[in-house]
Amino acid sequence: MDTHPTPEETPYDRLGGDQAVRRIIDRFYDLMDEVPEYYAVRKLHPTDLAGSRDKLYMFLSGWLGGPQLYVEKFGHPMLRARHLPFAIGTAERDGWIACMKQAMEECGVDAKLREWLMQSLSGTADWMRNKQD
Ligand code: HEM
Repeated sequence: MDTHPTPEETPYDRLGGDQAVRRIIDRFYDLMDEVPEYYAVRKLHPTDLAGSRDKLYMFLSGWLGGPQLYVEKFGHPMLRARHLPFAIGTAERDGWIACMKQAMEECGVDAKLREWLMQSLSGTADWMRNKQD
């Protein structure tokens, strides 16, 4: 079966819609909170991760081709600008990517779809780097 999204079926649909996106993001932040390897990323975030969970969930909903929840509430994402207050180098980038990959694996995202999404998200994460290592 072709696992690439088609114009009729968005990556959002393919993942399983709203509940699936929420589940992945919840797992992503639970792992970030629990796994020592992700501490470099965790320590940049607020103590209470509730706001971070909501914002990334809303953003990814639209990014995946589902409802544009983030844009409707906050306007243009301006992701790089919004990350400038946080010092992000290769360790933080790699931690974010590894954490998301683990979350998707644990949530049972189809391997081909996961590879495709992670490739794209890794490019975005790399673009967020704003400090010399
Ligand atoms: C490269 C590693 C990354 C690090 C270390 C990082 C870290 C952070 C931190 C510390 C915040 C603030 C959390 C808060 O206000 O509660 C944040 C917000 C956010 N991040 Fe990231 N992030 C990374 C990559 C990404 C990527 C790849 C995406 C999208 C695919 C993303 C999407 C967002 C969004 C949508 C917000 C909320 C922005 C706002 O409205 O203020 N981040 N990130």
